[in-house]
Amino acid sequence: MSRSVSSPDFRYAPSKNIYWEKLKNLPEDLRGLAYTDHDTETHKGEWRTRFPISSSKASGSGIPLHVEIGCNAGHVCLEWARQNPNALYVGIDWKFKQIYRLAEKSKKFQVRNLLAFRANADRLPFMFAAGEIDFLHMFFPDPWPKKAQKKNRTADREWLLSIAPLLSDTGVFHLKTDHAEYFEFILENLHSLSDTFEILEMTRDLHAGNPQAKLLTIPTVTLFERLFIKDGLPIHSVKVRRKS
Ligand SMILES: C[S@@+](CC[C@H](N)C(=O)[O-])C[C@H]1O[C@@H](n2cnc3c(N)ncnc32)[C@H](O)[C@@H]1O
Repeated sequence: MSRSVSSPDFRYAPSKNIYWEKLKNLPEDLRGLAYTDHDTETHKGEWRTRFPISSSKASGSGIPLHVEIGCNAGHVCLEWARQNPNALYVGIDWKFKQIYRLAEKSKKFQVRNLLAFRANADRLPFMFAAGEIDFLHMFFPDPWPKKAQKKNRTADREWLLSIAPLLSDTGVFHLKTDHAEYFEFILENLHSLSDTFEILEMTRDLHAGNPQAKLLTIPTVTLFERLFIKDGLPIHSVKVRRKS
C-alpha cells in the first residue's frame, strides 16, 4: 500500500462533485450524520461519543462498533443499524453522492446509531484508534483485475497490517468477494501475516448447499452479492481476528 493516500501528509483535494460541497455544508437536519474527507479523522478514538444515540447509555464502552468499508449507499449497514439499535455502525465509501444519500436515509428512518463517512479506506488508521473497532466488514471490494491495476487493491499486505491494531481484543475482520483471484491474493497476504491474524472461518463457496441462496435479502447478503448469486458465482469469505 505504498500509495500517497496512506501517508500522514496526505490531504484530500477539493472536488467539483456537487455532493462534495453538500457534504461539506450539511443542512441542519443532517449535521452529525455524515463526515467527509479530513473530518473523518477528527474524532479518532472518540467515535462512540459522536453518534446521535451517544447521549444515552447505549453508547457505553461495551457497545460494539461495526465499520463497513465500501458500503456504497449503505444498504447493509443501514439495515443492521435499524435491526440492532444497541450496536454502533460506521459506513464508509469514497462516493460522495452515496454517502450523502445514506445520511438522508438515516434521517428519514430516524436511525441514531449510524454514521456515514465519505473517505478512502486507505485512511482507516487515521480515522480510528487502536482497538476502537469491534467488527470490520469489507464486502466485495473492487478487484482491480488487470495487471496494471493490481496496485490499487485495498486489501494488500501493508493495508492488512495497518488495520490489525484498530481491531479490539475480540475484534473480527470479515471479507467477502466473488473474485477468486483477489481472494487468493488476500489469503496469501493473511498467511504471510500469521503472527498478526488468526483465520477463524474461510470458504470459497459461502452459499454452497443453500438452494434458497437466490432468495437471501439484505442485510444477510449485500446488493452486489445478490447479483453474483443470481449469476451463479461462488462467494468467497474469510473471517480473521487479531492475535494478541
Ligand atoms: C463493488 S462495490 C460493493 C458495494 C457493497 N459493499 C456491496 O457489496 O454491495 C465496491 C464499493 O467500494 C467502494 N470503494 C472502492 N474503493 C474504495 C476505497 N478505497 N475507499 C472507500 N470506498 C471504496 C466503491 O465506491 C463501491 O461502493
